Amino acid sequence: MTVPEATREKVTSLREEIRFHNNLYHVLDAPEIPDIEYDRLMRELQALETEYPQLITPDSPTQRVGAEPIAAFGTVEHYLPMLSLNNVFSEQEFVDFHRRVAARLELSADADIAYMADPKFDGAAVSLQFENGKLVRGATRGDGTRGEDITHNVRTIEAVPLRLLGKGFPSMLEVRGEVFMPRAGFAKLNERAREKGEKTFVNPRNAAAGSLRQLDPRLTAERPLDFYVYSVGIVEGGLLPDRHSEILHQLQEWGLKVCPERRLVSGVDGCMEYYADIGNRRDSLDYDIDGVVYKVDRLEYQHELGFISRAPRWAIAYKFPAQEEMTLVENIEFQVGRTGAVTPVARLKPVFVGGVTVSNATLHNMDELHRKDVRIGDTVIVRRAGDVIPEVVQIIAGKRPKGTKPVRIPRKCPVCGSRVVRIDGEAVARCTGGLSCAAQRSESLKHFVSRKALDIEGLGSKLIEQLVLHGRIKTPDDIYKLSATDIAAMERMAEKSAENLIASITKSKQTTLSRFLYGLGIRDVGEATAASLAAYYGKLASIMEADVEDLQEVPDVGPIVASRIQAFFAEKQNRKIIRELINDGVTWEEVAPQRTANSGPLAGKIFVLTGTMRSMSRDELKARIQALGGKVTGSVSMKTDFVVYGDKTGSKLTKAQNLGIAVIDEDGVNKLLLINN
Ligand code: IVH
Repeated sequence: MTVPEATREKVTSLREEIRFHNNLYHVLDAPEIPDIEYDRLMRELQALETEYPQLITPDSPTQRVGAEPIAAFGTVEHYLPMLSLNNVFSEQEFVDFHRRVAARLELSADADIAYMADPKFDGAAVSLQFENGKLVRGATRGDGTRGEDITHNVRTIEAVPLRLLGKGFPSMLEVRGEVFMPRAGFAKLNERAREKGEKTFVNPRNAAAGSLRQLDPRLTAERPLDFYVYSVGIVEGGLLPDRHSEILHQLQEWGLKVCPERRLVSGVDGCMEYYADIGNRRDSLDYDIDGVVYKVDRLEYQHELGFISRAPRWAIAYKFPAQEEMTLVENIEFQVGRTGAVTPVARLKPVFVGGVTVSNATLHNMDELHRKDVRIGDTVIVRRAGDVIPEVVQIIAGKRPKGTKPVRIPRKCPVCGSRVVRIDGEAVARCTGGLSCAAQRSESLKHFVSRKALDIEGLGSKLIEQLVLHGRIKTPDDIYKLSATDIAAMERMAEKSAENLIASITKSKQTTLSRFLYGLGIRDVGEATAASLAAYYGKLASIMEADVEDLQEVPDVGPIVASRIQAFFAEKQNRKIIRELINDGVTWEEVAPQRTANSGPLAGKIFVLTGTMRSMSRDELKARIQALGGKVTGSVSMKTDFVVYGDKTGSKLTKAQNLGIAVIDEDGVNKLLLINN
């Protein structure tokens, strides 16, 4: 079959483009396009090469992995090449993979083949070689056959043993795994870089790869790197078990770090279950993953299945929907928040990312906007992880059209026209309109009714904006003066839903002091601070009268927050709103004061909550623990005293058990609260 000239040209240009991005990604650690875009180019090239095999050349990007190693490092040969994995993106594609496996093994398509499943870690692949149990070499994957010698750097990673434990290991053992940077460490690293005015990393993967490629091991040692082993390479002078799952177990016995999330599953159903489960828990893991890797467990089967060019036939990566995508910035607008903060927002050409269509992304503040230098007309990478607000990660410099201009902060509030000021040293610019600004008013009201505040169901953003626009509500107390007729007069409000809303407004009157305080929207008084204030003082009146010194006695309250709280209650208008709210019937149970972190029966005890509780919400449980002086934090560490678990727990429980921290169930915590009350 002859190849059309246009196809020949397409193949050439695709290869050039892929090589260009390979270099950016593998050699320079500075990718310009999201992985999904890269995968797409690769798939397009693969499809053309499948159709016209005569076009395949040994130097095609499909025929090898990665790029050339950097010359400054020594080069290491991989005697067994470090291969890549084929990807699937849907259940159907996964089923097809399973069918191919079964067919080659001459098993029926519904055979319960055992697969080892583990997360696809988003880091950098490394090979570690142990000679007589001693770590003698660490290498990057490089182009798959030759990598870089990074022995000096891997030695600095605490999760990598310098010597194997126990005995019975082969005289020569090469293991392979992933070096990655946990999220918390990544956040800290970037925070430090920002403070020093240094360049930040785009994501934990680039940070891990960049850290491994330091010429100076002292720099690598400062980076919070971690490692999980997932396979073996060369094995000489010794034998390993004949199942992958057992090999991993054996490696763990020898002191190598294996991922605790791994699981031996059976058949397609088992694989799907694992995929759904880990997908649900993805955001609560300490590290980034971008899918699941399945490997046929029996080595005998693996040998029978073998390889095709760059990847094993016995393994597959089932990727999660992309969390990063590329799109166009159509406009940059400014939004005014509850506290007057003027935030730049990118209006995007709609793009499907992280499972939803995204058409707006925050640019955080002016400093961030200028650092990233985002302009109207730019092509950018947007990221949406979990339920986090979508953000612009970076621009693609090569795609900027001519004649773009840097974005400037507006001098007047786009909503009320008041002056916009920026205090020196603060990244945030603010509208000076206060509650005369409709935007600030709407946003404070939205905050007041939100789930963690007064929790008024059915009073959504759109409705609040309308009510503000029609002058029906200005301040929170106005909400309690609304009638069903007022509400029914708004767009798309039927009489029935107006009545339902009145019912939920009435229901919200019975609340808690900490919800009420949080709902007031005092700057820097978040949920936790509101809870501390409520527990410490017990009564609203005492908080309103407290002076700045006194307020600082409350755990978590420093001088700035104390002065904000004091200033808020000193404002006549605010006192009036509070009085009105109470007159309207907003009420809560008063609790005994002074039960704080340094006094209550649970003083000094640190709790972490995980999973769903049956008898109360996590927020309620948190408030009860805090009321007795205990502290509730988000992540498990050596400082944690108790981990309280409900149903559907995640990695926190496993981590607690690994660290030997006391774990208690819901009944247990109820007893503890009862005894101490
Ligand atoms: S197994 C021959 N397991 O994915 C198969 N790889 O796309 C060897 N990766 O180079 C790979 N997590 O860097 C395997 N649990 C896991 C993995 C994993 C991440 C990476 C690895 C590999 C790349 C292939």
